[in-house]
Amino acid sequence: MKGIILHGGHGTRLRPLTHAGPKQLLPIANKPMSQYALEDLREAGIKEIAVILGDVYPEKVKEFYGDGTKFGVKISYVYQDRPKGISHAIRLCKEFIGSDRFVVFLGDNILRTGLVDYTKKFQDSKADAMILLCEVDDPSRFGIAELDGKKIKKIMEKPKNPPSNLAVIGVYFLTPKIFDIIDKLKPSWRGELEITEALQLLMESGNVIEYDTVTGWWKDTGTPEDILHANQLVLDSIGTPQQFQVNDWSEVRGNIIVGKNTTISRDSFITGPAIIGENCTVGPAVRLGPYVSVGNHVTIKKCDVENSIIMEGAKIDAKIHLVDSIIAHQSEIEDHSHPKKHQFLLGERSQIRL
Ligand code: G1P
Repeated sequence: MKGIILHGGHGTRLRPLTHAGPKQLLPIANKPMSQYALEDLREAGIKEIAVILGDVYPEKVKEFYGDGTKFGVKISYVYQDRPKGISHAIRLCKEFIGSDRFVVFLGDNILRTGLVDYTKKFQDSKADAMILLCEVDDPSRFGIAELDGKKIKKIMEKPKNPPSNLAVIGVYFLTPKIFDIIDKLKPSWRGELEITEALQLLMESGNVIEYDTVTGWWKDTGTPEDILHANQLVLDSIGTPQQFQVNDWSEVRGNIIVGKNTTISRDSFITGPAIIGENCTVGPAVRLGPYVSVGNHVTIKKCDVENSIIMEGAKIDAKIHLVDSIIAHQSEIEDHSHPKKHQFLLGERSQIRL
């Protein structure tokens, strides 16, 4: 089987974070979110992977993943000039797929359980496609499946009056049959060739689509709130105290991972779950956590940080209480006033001096 990871799109709801790179490279617990997709494919034995690049800094994706060797897979890159839909992106991979069965993974989806069992199920079945369904509270945000007993009756994109709360998540098990179906699609109201319409048409053409339900959590990371929630979910599932490498003089508790050459001052206090990268300086007088991810080469002084993501190279030297914030690479916050509560969403290289 082969794999396709979608790495395009404009990530408009994540601006300004997506002004400087594709959203799928934004870190969740210090790892680009698309790396979770890539590792899930690899764990399921799928090592030939096409990565679909969009028009937002595609070279950053190539720089990070290279030819895939570092990650134990073989990557081919395919360009999609504009976001014309998931089906359009899949159609670009016809030659790459050849006659193989394949999995399409949206690079902004994160799945707790991985793909091993689902992939086996699809390989053992004669189905022409398999989708994964997950119960959601806000079904009009997603592709939705309506069931009739144990069979799929209808698949539709973001219905206004959803007939069920079963979202079709961004992982699709397909066969080359889908390519001819995609050729028949017309752009939807949002100008895209929708994957849900292709699946519906595949079914109407007499093909069998199976489904499985997602156990554990699934997250589509379209908004800053989603990113912070995904960060919480991942941090909740990593680490044991034995894996942590911390300085003797640091006060550390809970599920905390600290990278090498990171110093934490004696008067700082970390509450897990949290991850702090390499070569960071934490302190003096920092209270960090829970649910904080700090990238490499970050300096944090004098502040409280809760439920936030601080990316590589950022500097915070301020008596502030930072909550629910995402601070992009190389951003700086300096404070020369009194302690206050603040909430920030900062793009790359932003600078704030209070
Ligand atoms: C896309 C699909 C939708 C699916 C969702 C999962 O939506 O069109 O059917 O449920 O991904 O993340 P989009 O992210 O393009 O709004």
